[in-house]
Amino acid sequence: MNKFLIKGGKPLKGTVTVSGAKNAVLPIIAASLMTADPVILEEAPDLIDVSVMTEVIESLGARVTRHGSQLHIQARVLESIEAPHDLVTQMRASIVIMGALLARQGRVRISHPGGCAIGSRPINWHLKGLEALGAEVRMDHGFLDVKAQALKGARIYLDFPSVGATENIMMAAALAEGTTVIENAAQEPEIVDLANFINEMGGKVRGAGTSVIHLEGVQELHGTTHTVIPDRIEAGSFLLIAAAAGGDVLVQNVISDHLKPLLAKMVEAGIRVVEEGDGIHISGDGLYQGVDVKTQVHPGFSTDLQAPFLGMLSRAQGASMVTETIFENRFMHVDELKRMGADIKIEGRTAIIKGVPSLTAAPVTATDLRAGAALILAALTADGTSEISGIHHIDRGYERIEEKLRGLGAEIRRV
Ligand code: EPZ
Repeated sequence: MNKFLIKGGKPLKGTVTVSGAKNAVLPIIAASLMTADPVILEEAPDLIDVSVMTEVIESLGARVTRHGSQLHIQARVLESIEAPHDLVTQMRASIVIMGALLARQGRVRISHPGGCAIGSRPINWHLKGLEALGAEVRMDHGFLDVKAQALKGARIYLDFPSVGATENIMMAAALAEGTTVIENAAQEPEIVDLANFINEMGGKVRGAGTSVIHLEGVQELHGTTHTVIPDRIEAGSFLLIAAAAGGDVLVQNVISDHLKPLLAKMVEAGIRVVEEGDGIHISGDGLYQGVDVKTQVHPGFSTDLQAPFLGMLSRAQGASMVTETIFENRFMHVDELKRMGADIKIEGRTAIIKGVPSLTAAPVTATDLRAGAALILAALTADGTSEISGIHHIDRGYERIEEKLRGLGAEIRRV
């Protein structure tokens, strides 16, 4: 297993450009199954998760070729309705092909995705929404067998604004007969990007980005070329790394509107955050105050930024409280940060952090991709050379991260 060796203690300087959003491109790749026409995705990041999702749709009969940051996709004829078990277990996000396959051909077989490091991650709300649209769901030897003679529009109230459930329901409703209203829908920017993609293919989606989404079913969808939005979580991770390491960094290709809670919290901590064109400029000496934060669904503070934010707080002046309300087990980076000298106590869903003046390098392990970002941040500020293993998690969601960090003067090597 390869590792990152990171020599910390140096301020960072320069410009880093954010890639396309992983959590936008994954559902959009699934949605490209809903048309027989060619689809071109611009700014599609080259990530393990994106390769797995393309393998999933190829196994169903779609043709996919990558040309730099462009993905060319065509699902002219679908040859299978079953997503391969090994791919689905590798990446639970593949569950969003359910809505697209039901819309395209009324049938899908997919293994019930397991949990992952950060929680059990059930899909009950996905299935409830698809059943409301007329699908029949059967569990058969660990496989979900979902059938729908005809999908009919319905009014669906989500118990919780689940991102994946909203995406699956949107895709199934796009080609259903009649009107669908999704209430208490997820409002993340990636939902808006998926809605824009479906509309560019001739769909009729209104209200994405608010808690009520209206869809008029259409007969069929045609091809399109779509530019994926920038990855707000990658952007936030780099902003936090720059603030923690100190120096003078411009993070480019950012839609600051997607990062309001993070930027507000960074300003509250006394970090200099300046918007410059399509970028955000962070400059400072790596000193800042502790602040309290609670993760919420969008437009609240993103759970995906909790780990790197907590990493930054471990060296703040003063104490902080971080409460994780979205996932039940998303503090695994805490034990690793404590090995680097962080002073953190966990009480249920809240981590209490007492800032320490500096962290010390140590061999640590990334348990999930955002925990990996937190450990990279910590290693870049620690005295000495840290060794981070489990970096395949990081490659799932951060494109060429060591190259981007070396561009800022960081001493990081993949061994
Ligand atoms: C998406 O996951 C993201 N992944 C996650 O990003 C992100 O953390 C999450 O949304 C929340 O913003 C992708 O977009 C590929 P949810 P998703 O359904 O759709 C529970 C990353 O780091 N739940 O909003 O799975 C669930 O267990 C990843 O890039 C049910 O109980 O998130 C969780 O506790 C990690 N039943 C909570 O809701 C359901 O039917 C939020 O899940 C569905 C979800």
